[in-house]
Amino acid sequence: MAESRLLCALALLITAATTARALPVHTPRHTADQCGYQSCPATKPSMLNVHLVPHTHDDVGWLKTVDQYYYGGRDYIQHAGVQYILDSVVAELQKDPARRFIYVETAFFYRWWRQQSAGTRSIVTQLVQEGRLEFVNGGWCMSDEASTHYSSVIDQMTLGLRFLNDTFGACGRPRVAWHIDPFGHAREHASMFAQMGYDGFFFGRLDYQDKGRRMKMKEMEMVWRASGSLKPPAADLFTGVLPNGYNPPPGFCWDQSCSDEPVQDDPELEDYNVDDLVNKFISISKAQAEVYRTDHIIMTMGSDFQYENAAPWYKNMDKLIRYVNARQENGSTINLLYSTPSCYLQELNLAQQTWPLKSDDFFPYADDAHDFWTGYFTSRPALKRYERLSNSLLQTCNQLEVLGGPRSRDGLFGKGDSDTMRRAMAVAQHHDAVSGTEKQHVADDYAKRLAIGWDHCQVLVSNSLAVLSQSDVPRVFCENLNISVCPLTEGSKMFSMSVYNPLARPANWSVHLPVNGSSYRVTDSGGTAVNSQVIPVSKPTQHVRRGRGYAQNELVFQVQAPPLGFSTYSITLLKGAGAPAEPRRSAPVSMQNKYLKVTFDPTTGLLSGLTNLETQQSIHLSQNFYWYNASDGNDESTQTSGAYIFRPNSSTPYTVNTHPDVSTLQNSVVQEVRQQFSPWVSQVVRLYEGSRELELEWTVGPIPVDDGLGKEVITRLDSNISSAEYFYTDSNGREVLQRRKDFRPTWDLKQTEPIAGNYYPMNSRAFIKDKESQLTVVTDRSQGVSSIYNGSLEIMLHRRLLRDDYRGVGEPLSEPGQFGDGLIVRGRLLLTLTPPDTAANAHRPLAQGMVLQPLLSFQEGALKPSTRLEVSYTAAALPPAVHLLTLSQWDQDSVLLRLEHQYESGESRTHSQPVTVNLQKLFSTLTVVGASEMSLGANQWKENMSRLRWNTGESVKPLRAEPGDPSPWEITLSPMEIRTFLLNVQQR
Ligand SMILES: *[C@@H]1O[C@H](CO)[C@@H](O)[C@H](O)[C@H]1NC(C)=O
Ligand SMILES: *[C@@H]1O[C@H](CO)[C@@H](O)[C@H](O)[C@H]1NC(C)=O
Ligand SMILES: [Zn+2]
Repeated sequence: MAESRLLCALALLITAATTARALPVHTPRHTADQCGYQSCPATKPSMLNVHLVPHTHDDVGWLKTVDQYYYGGRDYIQHAGVQYILDSVVAELQKDPARRFIYVETAFFYRWWRQQSAGTRSIVTQLVQEGRLEFVNGGWCMSDEASTHYSSVIDQMTLGLRFLNDTFGACGRPRVAWHIDPFGHAREHASMFAQMGYDGFFFGRLDYQDKGRRMKMKEMEMVWRASGSLKPPAADLFTGVLPNGYNPPPGFCWDQSCSDEPVQDDPELEDYNVDDLVNKFISISKAQAEVYRTDHIIMTMGSDFQYENAAPWYKNMDKLIRYVNARQENGSTINLLYSTPSCYLQELNLAQQTWPLKSDDFFPYADDAHDFWTGYFTSRPALKRYERLSNSLLQTCNQLEVLGGPRSRDGLFGKGDSDTMRRAMAVAQHHDAVSGTEKQHVADDYAKRLAIGWDHCQVLVSNSLAVLSQSDVPRVFCENLNISVCPLTEGSKMFSMSVYNPLARPANWSVHLPVNGSSYRVTDSGGTAVNSQVIPVSKPTQHVRRGRGYAQNELVFQVQAPPLGFSTYSITLLKGAGAPAEPRRSAPVSMQNKYLKVTFDPTTGLLSGLTNLETQQSIHLSQNFYWYNASDGNDESTQTSGAYIFRPNSSTPYTVNTHPDVSTLQNSVVQEVRQQFSPWVSQVVRLYEGSRELELEWTVGPIPVDDGLGKEVITRLDSNISSAEYFYTDSNGREVLQRRKDFRPTWDLKQTEPIAGNYYPMNSRAFIKDKESQLTVVTDRSQGVSSIYNGSLEIMLHRRLLRDDYRGVGEPLSEPGQFGDGLIVRGRLLLTLTPPDTAANAHRPLAQGMVLQPLLSFQEGALKPSTRLEVSYTAAALPPAVHLLTLSQWDQDSVLLRLEHQYESGESRTHSQPVTVNLQKLFSTLTVVGASEMSLGANQWKENMSRLRWNTGESVKPLRAEPGDPSPWEITLSPMEIRTFLLNVQQR
């Protein structure tokens, strides 16, 4: 060990002299393979070219788990086996070089590839190099767009794209993003795809009214301007709506799971049908061409889990192509060909068209008048939270793997890794995973994968912190602090707690530790006493945890940790104090700290007002819990509320209780108003000393359904803010979009569901505002949100339903929870009240802090004096506008770094400016000796990136002409920009 450190120091001396210029980590390699656009089949000018795209749509878990789908197990649930699909397609592709196939989900391809012989691998490599097998999209899965956070989407894309590049080099790089199944499309996804270097994007589902209008106007294909901050064309993405969702045209499905007639082409035999089929196909093609702009149209020849036996598909398509094209000798102008999305895209690009621009998003999605896919914004709220929390642990795990060096993977506490969690998180991004639209046993499988990821990361984190803190005392992680369960803190008389901060700026949080004593001494890493209080564990918390813990009390105090570092607190039980004061059984008139004053209605105990004491702004603000009765279908439509669909029976929700039981607790650390609305709804309204936001901790469940009524539980905030039916929601946790009740920016909406048709996804925040005030709600997971009344914001928290909604999942969404009597969910909303022009300064850091939680670890007993109690691994905190998005080990001596400007342009007077960071001055223990910039998905060097240009009828300035980087090491970020670097680093 000592020797190697010396070597590093030497290397450092040598490189120090040459660091005037950022050394590229890799020399770009130019490949001249036949893949990519060069491999596209010839088309015929002045004919209608019909691009047949053979494809399969393989869900990374839905009715079966990802592994059951891979092998084809549990056939009684659904017949589907992805291994056979890849086996069969590879065999069929070899029979004819004209045949094409695309593959999408790298999670499956990776499983299959590992099992192939060298011979098969070389055949597949050749197919890829010749463009006959093309990867499309290429992420680990096809992510959900409504409930995912950008950080996890970027990670899952990176994982899949890296495997493809490592395995196939440049020919494995997908040119096209392909989201044929997700239930609505987020603008931030389009922005990310553009920044990942994709040339185009195709999808299948959009609102039926929107689709109708686009067909009429020939606007099925467009340029999506996906950012209000990035300079065009940085976030412009060519976007196409597929004609039949992702299915073949009716009558032309030749999968073994379909029952359409094959091409029967022997005139001697009965049922000869070539003329009929060709006529029908030609008329379908002509009709389709009517709603598109060019001489090229696309047909998706495949569907869910198809091509398990690829032979019938290819055999019949071969014939269809032959017979349709034979008509050309008699003057037909239809030209049929095997193709891929990128070859189709290339033809569109060559077609010299001007394309319409789109700048809003594709939410919400309805496929009929009463069929709004807005329920899944909230479905499975506990899985949604677990997924979000797992992202936080993964980022911490990644960082500590880098900071702790090799001994974090194989160290004092055994072998740990971040890969297990990375894969589990990637699978969880699938559009039937975090979306909540899978069967219960599949949801359990996603959670189990994450839990295994937690185990592996916790070993890594323990190893890393042992190195960094120089303490070999084992660490305990308490995952159930939210329900006051942690055996170590409950029983210990003396322990320490390390707080690791994954943010690159100093941060503070409040912690509640379950304890059984009634007085403790808490000291920080400098030995200074920290103000702490002991309060009794609330009745609802005791009810939720049942027999899982026995703490009487909670020890509450505030902790701080330096940027990208940890701080350690020591906690000692003191003798002789009596039981802590029970909460007063009455409603307070108000509670306040330096920054906020919160008032309550003395007769109901409900929230009644909020004042920002710094700005002297005051609003009326009431809040309560309600539930919509889920529709079982009615005369107008049989549509029910289910895992996907939200359809309330009535626009007026039931109030849970107008007069909750209220108790109050006030001390020098925290003030709480505890509200019990019913046995299954409670809340703590909480104001910490020194905090600028109000916390609403809600607990909902088990939702009772013995009355035969499915329930969709919301909380609604009603204020006197004149929001005029406008409200705002974030897109995948990044840019914010304006929403307006009963309105869509791109078409004249005929509103048919006054509640469900106004719901939008909220991934991290939503707000309403008028000229004076903005009320922002930051949440801890993705949820559905709406504003039905002026000044009001409602958030759907939990759903329990009794019917399936006919979209295939085949189960009512009625989560049993751990005890079988219905899932209980607890979560937090943070409220800020600010002037609109400073709101972002508050909600941007607040939301990042909610996403990247501190990692708490506990050690029993006293620590050795040699233990390092506080360290920061940044050389200095990053500027407030800059967020450290990714710091993860890439290979032995390189790490992947993503820096993000976290403000939109014009959003903040102080922060919406370009900001410069020096890559060599980021870390205190790592020397950066080389840096190469990459695409957002880290599968291409930035300097090699070139995307197809599209004409939108306006002049477009080149990408990032200004402001430019001051020097190779100093990089400038503009509002909302993310820059990705591969860094060569050495431990100091
Ligand atoms: C072309 O037209 C001729 C004369 O009508 C006919 O015999 C032949 O079958 C046609 N070819 C095709 C491919 O339809
Ligand atoms: C892609 O993979 C090749 C090896 O197949 C490697 O040389 C190259 O550096 C990789 N490119 C990127 C951008 O990682
Ligand atoms: Zn799907």
